[in-house]
Amino acid sequence: MPDKILVSVAWPYCNGDLHIGHIAGAYLPADIFARYHRMAGNDVLMVSGADTHGTPITVRAEEDGVSPREVVERFHPREIEAFLKLGVTFDLFTETDTENHWAVTQDLFRTHLAKEYIYLDSMQQLYCLDCRKWLADRYVEGLCPFCAYEGARGDQCDNCGRIYDAIALIRPRCRYCSGANIEVRRTQHFFLDLGRLNQPLLAWINDGRKEHWRPNVMNQTRARLESRELRGRPITRDITWGVTIPAPGFEDKRIYVWYDAVIGYLAASKEWAALIGQSEAWQNWWRDPAARTYYFIGKDNIEFHALIWPGMLMGYDESLNLPYDVPANEYLNVEGRKLSKSRRWMIEMLDGLERYDPDPWRYVIAANFPESQDTNFTWEDFVRRNNDELVATWGNLANRVLGFAYRRFDAMAPQPGVFDEADRALLDRIEPTFERVTALLEAVKLKQALSEAMALAHEANRYLNLKEPWRQIKTDPTTAATSVFVVLRVIDTLKTLLAPFLPFTCQRLHSYLGYDDDLFGQQYTQEIWETERRHLALRYDATRATGVWAVSALAPGQKLREPAPLYRKLEESIVDAEVERMTAGRQP
Ligand code: MF3
Ligand code: ZN
Repeated sequence: MPDKILVSVAWPYCNGDLHIGHIAGAYLPADIFARYHRMAGNDVLMVSGADTHGTPITVRAEEDGVSPREVVERFHPREIEAFLKLGVTFDLFTETDTENHWAVTQDLFRTHLAKEYIYLDSMQQLYCLDCRKWLADRYVEGLCPFCAYEGARGDQCDNCGRIYDAIALIRPRCRYCSGANIEVRRTQHFFLDLGRLNQPLLAWINDGRKEHWRPNVMNQTRARLESRELRGRPITRDITWGVTIPAPGFEDKRIYVWYDAVIGYLAASKEWAALIGQSEAWQNWWRDPAARTYYFIGKDNIEFHALIWPGMLMGYDESLNLPYDVPANEYLNVEGRKLSKSRRWMIEMLDGLERYDPDPWRYVIAANFPESQDTNFTWEDFVRRNNDELVATWGNLANRVLGFAYRRFDAMAPQPGVFDEADRALLDRIEPTFERVTALLEAVKLKQALSEAMALAHEANRYLNLKEPWRQIKTDPTTAATSVFVVLRVIDTLKTLLAPFLPFTCQRLHSYLGYDDDLFGQQYTQEIWETERRHLALRYDATRATGVWAVSALAPGQKLREPAPLYRKLEESIVDAEVERMTAGRQP
């Protein structure tokens, strides 16, 4: 029986291009994990979409002098293009400004209200007297009440990641006019009763089935719950962009973006099911207790996914699956500095893909995944890893041996002779490496999985340097044939192990090795029409995928195809050029 794996990935705010921090923190780990599970024959559903609501979008719209919807229509297709080019294979990457998403959100809201997990109350909110406007979320900035960081926003501090009410900000300033002529006023809002959910959430987190959770995720979540300080959080705002509130008298307010965004996981699963014409298929991942649901997110989103969203699910429908794991990542810095749009320190993914191929990007980012601490991407490391690891260690290994077999053994995997000790030693490493990498992928330790696989490539290179089949063939063709056969087995296995990380080049290698099928399915964009309007989505079609996750069984006599180099060496000079490009802030 295949396992059912739901891969839920954070919904990026649709107010700008995705950068390599987003990719390292959520999208690439999710894709590697999903590709592995698909190859292993499991039923994967990987969903996300553009987070289109809230003040992050309206602030951008005002800056650009366009409507919020225009902001979404400008950036959403660019997100899709970046995922297509990088090979991030969503079963469905949709958006939140759809009829389906609104309907699912309003259904949760009504249910929460009926079950009294949502209540109405009046609260204090900041109001700018000069602008005569409510200052929701990003419309106010000040000092963080927890860490005193200067540029803290009304809903969350970018520095310490804590979430709080805007009213707690120290020395608040209005984002419209930069002024401080701000007053606290009372306004009516709906609240999610997290106080009532504190105990059930604590029982869930302590149910003894969370041993696999990353320590930072577990510690942060447990500490919040054990403090027993959870209380109602306002989930509506005095703004005019967002999902409307399904209650009379609240026409000029909207649902808070964080309440609706997390609902996207469920809404997108339902949208996907409707798209494939099996409207109940989403239940396979949401109601089957054996299904495992993983949430790939950055560390600033932990509270929303490990605590608030599970609470929302509990209060909505007890039969829905709660997160099995929340493998949150830390941050990827670049050249020792935090990525920042406002400080113009940025590597945008689409821009990066203009100049370098997707697999080198995937490789270097994966080798630097911030799985347990912040990591640092440097252009020097990019060039070094590309040249030393991808080109020299892995690409040359594959090309040398395949090219040699192609030219000297009639384009076939040769018949080996008797294995000597060195042959056996290398062959005997295949199985344990395969088992270890598989276990690491299962445990979402992707960086380590990659380095274990690469260690086998190193081993194969050492073996080849010892055996030198290109020399042996002159005097002892059978021994040369044996060495080539042994290494082909290694390469064929590494092709499988590396495929989730390097899907484009491993598919090519798969074909050079003589196979005719596809390791993966196809990605495509789709226009989806609802009654009112059209939206764009990224889709994945698994029907042509092989689904073979196994050690190589390549047999002597297998026909090979003429190989071409898998990777290109990069000039050292690009390091200075790229750093200079970033420093000059030339990127759009
Ligand atoms: N848009 C949010 C951000 O970029 C993430 C939302 S994740 C989801 O920080 F939970 F809402 F889906
Ligand atoms: Zn103002």
